[in-house]
Amino acid sequence: MASRLELNREDNPLCSRNCNKETRQNKTENDLCISVKSAKDNLPVRCVGAWAEEKIYLLYQYFGIFAGGMKYKWKLNYIEICSGPGRCINRSSGQEFDGTAISILQHKCFEHINRAIFYDYNDTVVDTLNQRIQSLGLSHKAIAKHGDYNNPTSISNDLSQFSNDCLNLILIDPTDCSVPFSLLESIASCMPKFDLIINIATNTDFNRNIPMAFSDPNRAEKYIRFLGSDNFFNSRRNQALCDSKDYVTLRTYFRETYKKSLQRIGFNHFDYTPIRNLYDILFATSSSKGIEFWKKATKEIDASGQRSLLFE
Ligand SMILES: C[S@@+](CC[C@H](N)C(=O)[O-])C[C@H]1O[C@@H](n2cnc3c(N)ncnc32)[C@H](O)[C@@H]1O
Repeated sequence: MASRLELNREDNPLCSRNCNKETRQNKTENDLCISVKSAKDNLPVRCVGAWAEEKIYLLYQYFGIFAGGMKYKWKLNYIEICSGPGRCINRSSGQEFDGTAISILQHKCFEHINRAIFYDYNDTVVDTLNQRIQSLGLSHKAIAKHGDYNNPTSISNDLSQFSNDCLNLILIDPTDCSVPFSLLESIASCMPKFDLIINIATNTDFNRNIPMAFSDPNRAEKYIRFLGSDNFFNSRRNQALCDSKDYVTLRTYFRETYKKSLQRIGFNHFDYTPIRNLYDILFATSSSKGIEFWKKATKEIDASGQRSLLFE
């Protein structure tokens, strides 16, 4: 049965709460609040909506099952691309909570991890997360590094440090569909065994831009890069779905195209979990055990009622 995840919640009385989009633009830099620091450690916090917690809980659940289940079989590594600073603040409630990186580092199963690397392209984020890693006393096996997913080889060259007897779990957590598929190709070429969790902005970025991308090759370029294929836009069926505004079915084919690209680089089991009609968390693995673990993690979330506990 799933345990409750508390995420070290703490009210931050200095948060002005409910900033509108314009105020947020003035008060944040790369989504880090510039007027409020963490009430817990006085370091920068990432301004987020309440839905961020749901993603963290899912990751946390899977991580426990993965690390607990595989600890005797493999040397395990955890990698995050788009790590964020490790602490978030809910812009409506003003309550702070741990982000993905710190949640994983504090998971009891983190002791089974050989090495963890967190990449982000923002230097303040990297520096902040490293300070938090240090405070947790985990610098000997975890590090935040500058890494830009638009420069896939810089990340994959760094990851080639892991030997072939490692099983690696990679989370990619961007805000839109701009992670090039070449990043995954590049990682797959140097890392024989990894499971992937990727946040796909199917209901935000997709909804806003895909309908226009069908008639504008410049707009389509970003999604072709993401999908690693132009099949999605070349399909007459997809064009017809776009014309008839059947975006629900179109989104399914978008995910299917992505899965086909993932199959090309060795993945053959997939599942996806929608988060509040905002984005999809896609899980991909080459192992039947991996998908069994994922199904268990998602089932436990439903069984525990965690979502309603957190978001009522
Ligand atoms: C959704 S946030 C990550 C949130 C974090 N995983 C969490 O839940 O606590 C996305 C992060 O991606 C980073 N980012 C944006 N573009 C990037 C790029 N090209 N390469 C690497 N990181 C990038 C941003 O700096 C930001 O910290």
